[in-house]
Amino acid sequence: MNWNNSITKLLNISYPIIQAPMFGVTTPEMVAATSKADCLGSLALADLDSKQCSELIRLTKQLTDKAFAVNIFVHEIPEITEELKKKYSETKSFFEELVKENHIEVDLPEIDKIKINSYQEQVDTIISENCKIVSFTFGNLDQQSIEKLKNNGTILIGTCTSVSEALILEQSRIDIICAQGIEAGGHRGSFTNENIPQIGGLSLLSQIRDTVKVPIIYAGGIYNAKTLLATKILGADGFQIGSLLLGSQESALKDFEKQRLRNVNKGEIILTKSFSGRYASGIKNTFIETIENSDFILPYPYQNKLTGELRKVAREQNNSEFVNLWTGQSINKLSEKSTTYILKKLIEETENNFYQS
Ligand SMILES: Cc1cc2nc3c(=O)[nH]c(=O)nc-3n(C[C@H](O)[C@H](O)[C@H](O)COP(=O)(O)O)c2cc1C
Repeated sequence: MNWNNSITKLLNISYPIIQAPMFGVTTPEMVAATSKADCLGSLALADLDSKQCSELIRLTKQLTDKAFAVNIFVHEIPEITEELKKKYSETKSFFEELVKENHIEVDLPEIDKIKINSYQEQVDTIISENCKIVSFTFGNLDQQSIEKLKNNGTILIGTCTSVSEALILEQSRIDIICAQGIEAGGHRGSFTNENIPQIGGLSLLSQIRDTVKVPIIYAGGIYNAKTLLATKILGADGFQIGSLLLGSQESALKDFEKQRLRNVNKGEIILTKSFSGRYASGIKNTFIETIENSDFILPYPYQNKLTGELRKVAREQNNSEFVNLWTGQSINKLSEKSTTYILKKLIEETENNFYQS
């Protein structure tokens, strides 16, 4: 099978396979292990501050001399109004009662103690750290940031979940579009619609392929040769792999989290706003069941910040009922092997697959 295409050329890799950025799971070791398989690693920086971004980038550069993508959350920060303050305080009180009932001791932050970083600061750090591939989700970069990054010779990869979002990215001169199907684990990258676009990967990918000219990476549900090749036939140039790597040696997840992910049943995977205020796909638990249909969901990033400390403490206690366990719809036997091994096996299986074109 000939893997060479626009993505391998643009990203200078042998295989157009991208290790999905997964904040909370991805480590510098995972990025380096991906480079060892001649695929593209992605370092998830989410909304970390500049100092943390620099530290992670430098750590990764010590482990690999190959280029990797850095991934950021591009989102508008809602203003703190009196109404938001009131809702925040009510939500905080509700959570305090809930955790007390569940024997978790945690101090939740007041709204004025929350630090929210802008992605523009991250863009400056990324440029000064000389990273040449940037992927992003939750929105589109502003024109000034696009200009700055392009002037620095950066390849831009933007995430979308609908045809209209793909068009916005293409019109903004984003180099590669990552089409995220509803099968994907973690947060939805949607950014134009209040009602989350829930179009299935099959329809989404083929419609985007018919609409845009730029290379497309597909993300969502790829977990073996067959699923990878199916998306190739539908027009994907690159293949983003997330959930398949959750159990890998380099995953930052704790054993109890990996164990819970290995025992998941189909009906337990849902889309929820409970943890962050944005829709994400993960395993249903007590926290989600209590919050999902309540009035206690603040807009992103306030919900995310409010639940952050709670999730941290629950995680220390190995309590899977109060942590976010993001995963996609393609349930598979999560391998404990290294990321390099898992990706090489996927490449080998794809090359030997009966269905290959
Ligand atoms: C645990 C987890 C965390 C994620 N975090 C991010 C992230 O930080 N940035 C991002 O662009 N996408 C993130 N995603 C979405 C992935 O990039 C990708 O769209 C998804 O994993 C692909 O679907 P799959 O999980 O079925 O392979 C995350 C996904 C998972 C499972």
